[in-house]
Amino acid sequence: MATLLFRSWQSLKSPTSLRLGGRRLSHHGTCPLPSRCSYPAACSSSSSPAAIGLEAETLLGFISGKMKATEVAHLVWKSILQKGDCAIDATCGNGHDSLALLRMIADDSGHGFVYAFDIQNSAIESTRSLLEESTDLDLKNYINLSLLCHSKIEDVVPKDAVIRLMAFNLGYLPGGDKGIITIAETTLPALQAASRVVASGGLISILVYVGHPGGRDELEAVQTFASNLPTESWSCCKLERLNRPAAPILVLLFKK
Ligand SMILES: C[S@@+](CC[C@H](N)C(=O)[O-])C[C@H]1O[C@@H](n2cnc3c(N)ncnc32)[C@H](O)[C@@H]1O
Repeated sequence: MATLLFRSWQSLKSPTSLRLGGRRLSHHGTCPLPSRCSYPAACSSSSSPAAIGLEAETLLGFISGKMKATEVAHLVWKSILQKGDCAIDATCGNGHDSLALLRMIADDSGHGFVYAFDIQNSAIESTRSLLEESTDLDLKNYINLSLLCHSKIEDVVPKDAVIRLMAFNLGYLPGGDKGIITIAETTLPALQAASRVVASGGLISILVYVGHPGGRDELEAVQTFASNLPTESWSCCKLERLNRPAAPILVLLFKK
């Protein structure tokens, strides 16, 4: 992922093409990769500042401090996902991530699906309300809300589902009980399950909050998990604000 973003940034001036979450902005060359290719940076470029590209925009937004980690995460997801894809929201909470995912992948003909999980009934209901208020979609065709620990995703997600993205937004439910937090004991098995179900060319995105008790331990566990993934099949990186130690940290695990 780090390679993907940086290559995109470096190659802005070369006259090839730019694929952003399925949108092609310009094309002055022949892309050697299939149309469903997972390496947008391999064919990204533009000489126009107005079309610098989602990946470069995202990276610069984060570097300049103008973009929050959640916004960066959503833009990275947008680069990975296309209409019709399947994704998992491992911690649906108040539903903002599920809504963002649905907007990226649901199409008019019933394609695109989100499997969403949370252990709190209030979170499941909050997600349902947000989605009902914010979209005209017939939700039963596009999302499955499970009151279940994310370590159990394989009990819900069909074996043959092609999962392009699994998103974790760790910590506690904003506006809810701050004593109910994600913990390494279940986050780790969930990450292991994620590494099995996410398809090649897909992403595990983990937003880690370190400001609450237990947050740093969970970050350690996530980092150890990521560091041990084999380099032949995974590219793992993190985006961290060095002079804002309490800011959330975005860990991105890209399956090659
Ligand atoms: C930071 S919130 C998620 C925010 C959410 N993604 C949103 O967009 O509003 C973290 C959520 O993780 C949930 N959670 C904690 N442990 C969990 C587990 N083992 N499995 C699934 N969800 C869990 C909490 O109940 C809480 O709602």
